[in-house]
Amino acid sequence: MAFPRQRMRRLRLGEGLRRMVRETRLHPASLVMPLFVRAGKGAADPIPSMPGQFRYTPDRLVERCAEIASLGIGGVILFGIPGEKDPRGSGAWAEDGVVQESVRLLKRALPEFPVITDVCLCEYTDHGHCGVVKQDPRSAPSASGGPCVDNDATLDLLAKTAVSHARAGADMVAPSDMMDGRVKAIRDALDAAGFADLPVMSYAAKYCSALYAPFRDAAESAPRFGDRRSYQMDPANAEEALREVALDIEEGADIVIVKPALAFGDVIRRVKEAFGVPVAAFSVSGEYAMVKAAAERGWLDERAAAMELLTGIRRAGAEIILTYWAADAASWL
Ligand code: PBG
Ligand code: ZN
Repeated sequence: MAFPRQRMRRLRLGEGLRRMVRETRLHPASLVMPLFVRAGKGAADPIPSMPGQFRYTPDRLVERCAEIASLGIGGVILFGIPGEKDPRGSGAWAEDGVVQESVRLLKRALPEFPVITDVCLCEYTDHGHCGVVKQDPRSAPSASGGPCVDNDATLDLLAKTAVSHARAGADMVAPSDMMDGRVKAIRDALDAAGFADLPVMSYAAKYCSALYAPFRDAAESAPRFGDRRSYQMDPANAEEALREVALDIEEGADIVIVKPALAFGDVIRRVKEAFGVPVAAFSVSGEYAMVKAAAERGWLDERAAAMELLTGIRRAGAEIILTYWAADAASWL
């Protein structure tokens, strides 16, 4: 291919033409803001590992969402931090749980503003795993020899949690646990409870990432023993992500999430091209914290870096981005 008369810079010389030929545009409507909510009243506690993010009480969450909604962003995704944790994570499906209460308040105050709920047990279990734990049946030393997460015993609890979020008024549920068969279990339970029209946004390709560390601080959900490698994906695998996504779509997922976003642009692109379903990418806590920390030291410009990262995620093929910059980015656009 020879274009002897081509000069690439002609279209770069002024902002007017740069803007005209731009291939990728961000829009507030495709950004979703993750928010943390805890029990109580009148508080918004700063999260040390995520500067600019807070743990809100439900009343303060509603105030924050009113601001966010006025920026035109797509919606919010809620993570609950319960007052008490137990081995089964029973706070996750409690009718008066912190997420359930928050959703009811939000839908009353802002009925048109989309509220997604994260469905997982790790914020609610005292051991910090995303499911219930049993003794590993395999014999040591080939296996861990210790406790492991029980896939099938977890499905019912996730389904109950999703239904309780639906009853509270959630517009969409987003299971993030990575158990096999959870989308089907949740879809069946929602259908049976009269919520056949409620969409499921599945964390279909969720990797076992070091970039979740600031979130686990915020949600107090770090596993007390072991790690999540027996259920979250190995970051080395992309073919496997396509199989995960295929299964979730077959089981009834309406939107699939790739997570994290930053190091997984190839996965986002391949999922988009292979399935053509709505793809969301979760730009996780570590992506946010890295940029914040460097910006605090004056090593880079937060706004420029964040917009570049978000644009790259969009360019990779995600039409929806879950990002802690959602509110800031909407105001910068
Ligand atoms: C819970 C959950 C996690 C995140 C979203 N849902 C943490 C984890 O799997 O340990 C991470 C979000 C982030 O880091 O921003 N399963
Ligand atoms: Zn979890």
